[in-house]
Amino acid sequence: MAGRVAIVTGGTRGIGKAISVALKDAGYRVVANYGGNDAVAKAFTEETGIPAFKWDVSNFEACRDGVAAVTKQFGPVEVLVNNAGITRDSTLHKMTFEQWNAVIQTNLSSCFNMCRCVIESMRERKFGRIVNIGSINGQAGQYGQVNYAAAKSGIHGFTKALAQEGAAVGITVNAIAPGYIDTEMVRAVPPNVLEKIVARIPVGRLGRADEIARGVLFLVADEAGFITGSTLSINGGQHMY
Ligand code: CAA
Repeated sequence: MAGRVAIVTGGTRGIGKAISVALKDAGYRVVANYGGNDAVAKAFTEETGIPAFKWDVSNFEACRDGVAAVTKQFGPVEVLVNNAGITRDSTLHKMTFEQWNAVIQTNLSSCFNMCRCVIESMRERKFGRIVNIGSINGQAGQYGQVNYAAAKSGIHGFTKALAQEGAAVGITVNAIAPGYIDTEMVRAVPPNVLEKIVARIPVGRLGRADEIARGVLFLVADEAGFITGSTLSINGGQHMY
């Protein structure tokens, strides 16, 4: 419904930016969270008119304060898109604890942090829409990504568990599992590796960020109240199950 307040984490760049813009165009009052890049966030707000709030989603207190600030300024958060994520790719035998932990905290603990900070208000209001951005690599695994695959796979389990808790109180919780989308994150994959990956995508190309945003819009709609605990794979046919 137009006017609902939505937070998109990691919402100023890549897939998150496309989600923020799509929600705004559909009439939601969007706040884009971001973690570090002030210059990009400033340009994003100038371009889109969407406010950008900076906090670290891997830090529980920062999420609590961030959600409180958004609620004070715009009202209770009714739509949450947990999109923020990083990669620290390395084979396990070379991976440091820091690379492991950064990905687990930023990609998975962030879902706990953010959901925990909005869930009580959603329960009171008997309405909520949560979409967690997982990954094809959480479904299928990926060489060089034990940290990322574990975090994203965790997101899929988290989604199904919270969906069961929210179902009776009007809160839906779903995941989207994007495949390889044309963003900075994917462009950071070594070109020879990426070439081989794209060759295995039946649609024959990388996805576009707006093709993920389209799925988010579908899942957060008021009319989507019977869709919960599901995972929508948007991957050009790269992984089907
Ligand atoms: N399967 C099997 N073997 C593989 C492989 C694969 N997928 N990828 C690489 N290898 C092999 C290489 O062929 C090489 O073997 P040889 O030495 O026998 O030739 C060996 O592994 C070492 O490969 P590298 O030289 O690449 O080793 P490295 O240590 O420099 O880098 C890596 C390893 C960091 C994993 C690098 O290959 C890499 O970055 N891979 C990309 C991982 C990836 O797909 N990340 C996705 C990021 S995008 C994203 O995560 C978004 C999303 O949700 C989809």
